[in-house]
Amino acid sequence: MFSVSDLVTMLGGQANITRVLYPNKQLVIEVDDLSLIHDSLPSYSVEEVLGKPQLTFSMPEHFDEMRLLELGAVIAEQQKRLAVDASQPAACEHRPTWHVSPPRGLLNDPNGFIYHQGQYHLFYQWYPHGCVHKDKYWAHLTSRDLVNWDWQPLALTPSDWFDSHGVFSGHALSQGEQLMLFYTGNTRIGNQRDRHTTQCLAVSDDGIHFKKLGPVIPDLPEGVTPHIRDPKIVRHGDHWLMLLGAQTTDLKGRLAVYRSQDLLKWEFVALCGDEMGDFGYMWECPDLFELGGEYFAVVGPQGIESESALHTIPHHNGYAKAQLDAEDKMTLSEFGNLDRGFDFYAPQTLLTADGRRILSGWMGLPDEIDHPSTDNGWVHQLTALRELSSKAGRLIQMPIAEIEGLYQDKQRFTLDNERYQQLNNKAFDMSVELDWGSELRLHAKDEQFVSIRLDEATRTLLLDRTHTLIREGDTKREVTLTSDKVSLRILSDESSLEIFVNGGEQVLTSRVFTDKDAAAIELVDGLANFEVFPLNAASAPFVVS
Ligand code: FRU
Repeated sequence: MFSVSDLVTMLGGQANITRVLYPNKQLVIEVDDLSLIHDSLPSYSVEEVLGKPQLTFSMPEHFDEMRLLELGAVIAEQQKRLAVDASQPAACEHRPTWHVSPPRGLLNDPNGFIYHQGQYHLFYQWYPHGCVHKDKYWAHLTSRDLVNWDWQPLALTPSDWFDSHGVFSGHALSQGEQLMLFYTGNTRIGNQRDRHTTQCLAVSDDGIHFKKLGPVIPDLPEGVTPHIRDPKIVRHGDHWLMLLGAQTTDLKGRLAVYRSQDLLKWEFVALCGDEMGDFGYMWECPDLFELGGEYFAVVGPQGIESESALHTIPHHNGYAKAQLDAEDKMTLSEFGNLDRGFDFYAPQTLLTADGRRILSGWMGLPDEIDHPSTDNGWVHQLTALRELSSKAGRLIQMPIAEIEGLYQDKQRFTLDNERYQQLNNKAFDMSVELDWGSELRLHAKDEQFVSIRLDEATRTLLLDRTHTLIREGDTKREVTLTSDKVSLRILSDESSLEIFVNGGEQVLTSRVFTDKDAAAIELVDGLANFEVFPLNAASAPFVVS
């Protein structure tokens, strides 16, 4: 009989253990350096997986799941230690001053966005050790005003046998004192990289330190591939529903629905969304909420046909009306885009203390990592928070009112073909109404600018970021509008523009990288009155030493 700490010693100490896996009830431990292993270690076989030795043991009788969690905690401690340096921000002129960006490494989806015990909690998918998609962590931020965010200790790391290759996305629930995080555990087994997926739970009594309870759904339902993830939990009648993005074995994106009375035991209900037909090969990051008496489901369908030839990437975002029947089966209809820009994916929503439905999204896309900020060691950011409302069955999105807390004194100016306005910096909230036929240029300097052109003949708004420092991704987007004039509310930061069109009926979110001093506004054609609030910086969402 040996304890976990004996095992750690025999394996060459905490720093030598990089992963634990448990495929088919076999203990597999990955180490850094085989030469540090003690001779006293019980017999094992070794396989090299992606350059690292993985040791497979015949499972010692007494080494149960409690011991596995203990070993996971040892690995987590080490992972948290190694991530300390990455929580110090890398200097970069493209760093946003009021959006959430990662100190270093790669940020993707917002996670666990929730109001709990008087504070807002926002987590995000984070790989601290480079601008690549590797084993994901949950970084943790808190806020009292939804604008200024404080860095908290890392919430979850890929330390355990059920999430060793990524603590993937999920949502949170506030249950009295307890904050519950539901997420997807991602593991890859052997050199064949077999994907194993479980839906997991971690809980916290102080909102800061989380204890993993392991998988609450350990197996796949019938008819899906291991691509099933991103749990969203909602209360429905007298029970709970869990929604998951899923891929069927015939490679169609669908929603998997589970139900539970106690949030611990989950019963599979159905795969939903057949009425959408062939609608992509995978759906990710579902959400579900009620607004104005209707249910809306949010999904990220991958591989659907684009509405515009200018949109060439497979990752889409959108929402549909949702109907739930007495058996908790969901029917979807009237799919629409949430955002028509370049960089918007994997959004999730919360209900504020005063009952508003607020959305946070990832300002980035799954396949793009080569952006100018990558040169400085960080990539991607979160969108500004948006308040949702519904009008005639369609979602309307506008910036949350709390942004006004960052306002400096209002500036007003009129521009026409002859004039341009130099601003002191790129952080501002601007409102303008434009006529068809006009072209507005932002973040402009010499040859650099982002263009918003209103094409009169086709009644199309064209967003073009060709003349920026962009290295990959699409450069043009288009949206057809029917209004007589076009009103724009534009949120700007060092490397982003979020354009809310006609009172939030359409939104176009875009990362734009230009020189630090490319801060002019030009109106190439037309005449318009501008109202601009320069924005103060929000508190930095990382450890600043
Ligand atoms: C969406 C996504 C999720 C997954 C996470 C992994 O961007 O692919 O489906 O849980 O990212 O980081």
